[in-house]
Amino acid sequence: MPTVLITGGGTGLGKELALLYAKNQYNVVITGRDTTKLAAAKEELLHFTENVHSVKMDVKNLASIKQAISEVISKTPIDVLVNNAGVGYFGPFSDLSEHDINEMIDTNVKGTIFTCQELIPHLLTRPEATIMNIISTAGLRGKVNESVYVASKFAMRGFTESLQKEYEGSSLHISGAYMGGMSTPFWDETDHIKDRSRLKDPAIVAEEIYNRQQELEIVIES
Ligand SMILES: NC(=O)c1ccc[n+]([C@@H]2O[C@H](COP(=O)([O-])OP(=O)(O)OC[C@H]3O[C@@H](n4cnc5c(N)ncnc54)[C@H](OP(=O)(O)O)[C@@H]3O)[C@@H](O)[C@H]2O)c1
Repeated sequence: MPTVLITGGGTGLGKELALLYAKNQYNVVITGRDTTKLAAAKEELLHFTENVHSVKMDVKNLASIKQAISEVISKTPIDVLVNNAGVGYFGPFSDLSEHDINEMIDTNVKGTIFTCQELIPHLLTRPEATIMNIISTAGLRGKVNESVYVASKFAMRGFTESLQKEYEGSSLHISGAYMGGMSTPFWDETDHIKDRSRLKDPAIVAEEIYNRQQELEIVIES
């Protein structure tokens, strides 16, 4: 049975992807900072498989990444890594605080880079392995009041495209997913999106990503 590790797997798109992998006979490892959210997601996942583990891992903290990944791979090999953990702070560029900027760069960019660096040597030992980077249409074009979020997602795109070239011909397949707005807790702390009823159901987006995971670039416009 293959194993998938999903960062930010306790809520939103990450949880929906976890549910799909569970329904498709994967061992599922969900990670995140908030153990209450992880425990609630694990309860849902247990309806579909008993092979579910939740592990605390803060992608802004390299020591936490190293600790969590070594704990997981000491118990089970990992075949699929989904870099889904992400944060967004929106509004006029001049209003973004140092905190907001650091949070987005440290989580979205450096979190993805360090998680990949920690896990790729292991993934290369597997007969077939996949990295799925959850980016956004914010990684495809600039948007008003999203400057640094967009910058972080362009960085993820550049990183993903470069890894695709570097590992071409190896057993490691790398995808980038570029989706429009989804109705998830991502928007709970901001009024940047005025009408959330127009956002996509993350379960539908998760299904499209899962079905197209062999593609290098998965673009899902709103
Ligand atoms: N919602 C949208 O409209 C939309 C559109 C395009 C792309 N995206 C991208 O989709 C991804 C998932 O977002 P979502 O919409 O599903 O929102 P979400 O429900 O807020 O999920 C984000 C997840 O990231 C985790 N996370 C945040 N900081 C973390 C950290 N330092 N370490 C570990 N985990 C961390 C959170 O868990 P903890 O709080 O437990 O750590 C949470 O489970 C993000 O990368 C986002 O940029 C979202």
